[in-house]
Amino acid sequence: MRVRAAALSPMAVSADVLAVPIYREDREFPADLADLDATSGGVISGAIDWGEFNLLEHYTALVDAGSLPSQKLLLVNGVRRGRGAWRARRIASTAVRRLQGRGATTLALWLRDGEDEDAFAAAIVGAQQGTYRPTSIYGRVRDTEAMKRSVEELILLGGPSQEAVDRAVLLAEGVEFGRTLANRASNDLFPERMADVARQLEADGCTVEVLGPPEMAALGMNALLGVGQGAEHEPRLIAVKLPGWDKRPDRRLAIVGKGVCFDSGGISLKPPERMEEMKHDKSGAAAVIAAARTVARLAPDTPLMAVAPMVENMPGANAQRPGDVVKAMNGKTVEVVNTDAEGRLILIDALHWAEREGATHLVDVATLTGAASVAFGELISPYFAKPREWGTAVQAAGDATGEWLWEMPLATEYRTSLDSAHADIVNSGSREGALIKSAVFINDFVTVPWVHMDIAGTAYLLSDRSWNPKGALGTGVSTLTRLSLDYAAGR
Ligand code: BES
Ligand code: MN
Ligand code: ZN
Repeated sequence: MRVRAAALSPMAVSADVLAVPIYREDREFPADLADLDATSGGVISGAIDWGEFNLLEHYTALVDAGSLPSQKLLLVNGVRRGRGAWRARRIASTAVRRLQGRGATTLALWLRDGEDEDAFAAAIVGAQQGTYRPTSIYGRVRDTEAMKRSVEELILLGGPSQEAVDRAVLLAEGVEFGRTLANRASNDLFPERMADVARQLEADGCTVEVLGPPEMAALGMNALLGVGQGAEHEPRLIAVKLPGWDKRPDRRLAIVGKGVCFDSGGISLKPPERMEEMKHDKSGAAAVIAAARTVARLAPDTPLMAVAPMVENMPGANAQRPGDVVKAMNGKTVEVVNTDAEGRLILIDALHWAEREGATHLVDVATLTGAASVAFGELISPYFAKPREWGTAVQAAGDATGEWLWEMPLATEYRTSLDSAHADIVNSGSREGALIKSAVFINDFVTVPWVHMDIAGTAYLLSDRSWNPKGALGTGVSTLTRLSLDYAAGR
């Protein structure tokens, strides 16, 4: 999709479709909307009066643009809450998605208000998301050429400089790259294949290191190895360093992503219903690799490393058993009481390794707990931070790019509930407080500023929505990219 900014009013732009957000608060038309409505000859109020665009029922309405220079008008039901970036991203993806398979080539988007550079960038990311067809990865039969048609040019009314547009387009590509990685099936994307993907980042100037079981064993990464030992596909620890990593020994950010290519639960086997979703359990790894690729293209001097511990969590004759005790790389022993609480086991070795490599700041992103999804649903990712100021930086990066994060308490008072009779800690406590306790567990293995973001509910949609289709979304990529850029700038 091409993107350009245009200093044009919605009354003057001539596109195939002009998209206009309408908010529930707009029942009494504000002046900007009333002007457009009058110039069009009343097509907006007409659509609403006629029932074509009931704000309580409809996401979008596509109507003839009347006397406006554009051909059609796409009314998009929006939410006014919060920052412009969140809103802009949602409106843009809904608009572009609504036009999939239609004859529209050019789409003009009028954000109406809250337009700052971040909102425009988020609109570009959202618009690119709106073009996404998950069937493009493996589909062979259903997609006709007509169905594959999509908006080819986005015109942002009142938009930012071309340079800012180009940067946002790069970010949008990064989100899509991560999204496709997270959508790939487990028979196609297993640990070594993810290593292949990471090695391609050498073309962007990155240094890529891949550890296999012998190297990991030598380092004492037994928590990670234990999770992977039941699978035919061997584990890998992937590290991607940007050129800037070596230049700033005093200030280095490592982003660590949970890479469980398939989570069957292991011997603590999951129930069969919806187990296929667990191919998305590598969404964190997909996000950090995609973010590293994006930052490498935008600002290669950023002192950034992406770390992706990759495993398949499978039952089998050699699988880890409930009750097994493993010694993690930092020397602490873990009693694995539930083999389905595997994400935290691979993260603790990856995080500790990142510290040993010289990371001064850590962020991990993981589809870690069903509890996160139960409590927060598909829109909001809970995070934990130590210290809380470091969390504020991560949250700001999410706000700026249209991802919604919310802080949870890192209540170390719960640490005693993870006491083990036989080892230093158990990997899973009771159901009560499961979300918080998962972070409290990881907290025992990190010593530098650290944020843990749980994207179990937000990494992928369970069904089609007006703004995105079922499946992975590329969650985390824009937050991590922005955080890295801010970090490099010393913010
Ligand atoms: N990958 C799952 C978490 C998950 C569940 C992600 C549903 C997305 C949707 C994780 O490995 C897991 O199984 N967590 C367990 C932890 C429990 C055993 C302490 C959970 O949340 O049930
Ligand atoms: Mn699990
Ligand atoms: Zn998992």
